[in-house]
Amino acid sequence: MSKKIFSGVQPTGNLHLGNYLGAIKNFVNLQKEDKNSCIYCVVDLHAITVKQDPIILKRNIRETTATFLASGLDPKKSIIFNQSTVPSHSEGSWLLGCVARMGWLNRMTQFKEKAGKDKEKASVGLYIYPILMASDILLYNSTHVPVGEDQKQHLELTRDIAQKFNLDFNCPNFLTIPEPLIQKKFSRIMSLKDGKKKMSKSDPSDQSRINLTDDKDQIVNKIKKAKTDSGELPRNEDDLKKRPEINNLYGIFSSVQDQELGETLSEFKGKNFSEFKNTLAEALVEKIFPISREINKLLKDEKYIDQVLIEGSIKAEKIAKKKVNDIKNIIGF
Ligand code: TYM
Repeated sequence: MSKKIFSGVQPTGNLHLGNYLGAIKNFVNLQKEDKNSCIYCVVDLHAITVKQDPIILKRNIRETTATFLASGLDPKKSIIFNQSTVPSHSEGSWLLGCVARMGWLNRMTQFKEKAGKDKEKASVGLYIYPILMASDILLYNSTHVPVGEDQKQHLELTRDIAQKFNLDFNCPNFLTIPEPLIQKKFSRIMSLKDGKKKMSKSDPSDQSRINLTDDKDQIVNKIKKAKTDSGELPRNEDDLKKRPEINNLYGIFSSVQDQELGETLSEFKGKNFSEFKNTLAEALVEKIFPISREINKLLKDEKYIDQVLIEGSIKAEKIAKKKVNDIKNIIGF
C-alpha cells in the first residue's frame, strides 16, 4: 500500500517553535520523500471549539497557510486546504461519532487540560474534537500522521474508531488504520519559562515561546531570558534529565541543528551559559527568521494564499466526498 500522509494545524495564532520542530518541519521532510502523497490541513473547525474572534480567525487561517508555505510546503506537491471548505469532514465526524464510545472520549487528557476545572462550561465541540480529527484522517485513507507527542492519544482514538467501524460493519480494511509519525526525539518542545510545561500558543506569556513570526531581536531576547538553573552546563545525558529547562534548550538546539543530543553535550562541555545561549540564539535566527520574513511577505498577498486554499480544497473534496459516500453506503443510507 502506498504511503498517504495527513496532518493538521489549528489556526489559533502564535504558531511557535514547538509546532515547527514537532510537526511542520516533519511535514516538509515527508513532502520531499513522498511527492503527491501529502495532505496538510488548516483545521479551522477545530479552532472554533474555543471562542474565536471572526476577524482574527480569518487572519489566522491565512497566517497558518502562509506558515506552511514559508516553511517549505509546496502546493504543487502537497494538498493544502482549510477544513471548513470541505464539508465532508463535518459529515464524516457525525457518522464516526456514532461509532465512537463516550468512555473513549472521557479518557482524553487534552480535553481535561483544556476544559480545566469547570468542564460543564466547555463547548460540546471541545469534547467531541477528537472525532472530527478522526474524520480528517480517515476520509483520506491516511497511512501516516505526523504530529507532536501531545496528539498521540487522539491518534489512538482514531485507530479505535476505524477498527470498530470495520468490525461493526464487517468491512475489514475499509477504514485504513493510521500510524502516528512522532519523532523519536524532541517531539515535545517545552516552555522557555518552565521546562515542565509544553510550549503552547495559549500560554499568556509571550516570553514562553518563540513565535514563527518573531523578528531577530525578539528571538535573541527570548533566548537570553529563557529560564536556566544555577549549575554548570551539563556533562552528560543523566545530568541533563534532572534539569528540565536545560534539557529543553539542548533539545531545541539539537533539533534545529539536526544533530544528536550527545553532539550538543560535547559541543558545549566546559563552556558557560552565555556562550551556549548566544550560539542557540544564532542558530534559531538562522533557521526561524527566514520563515518569519517569508510569512510576512506572503501575508501581503492574500489573493495568492486564498488561491492556494481554493485549489487545495477542490482536490481534497474529491477524495473526502467519495469516502463519505462509501461510508454512507456501508451504513445503509
Ligand atoms: P495543534 O494545532 O495544537 O498543533 C499542531 C501540531 O504541532 C504539534 N505541537 C507540538 N509539538 C512539539 N512540541 C510542542 N510544544 C507542540 N505544540 C504543538 C502538535 O502535536 C501538532 O502536531 N488536534 C491537532 C490538529 C489536528 C490534526 C488533525 C492533526 C486536527 N486534525 C488530523 C493531525 C491529523 C492540534 O490541535 O494540533
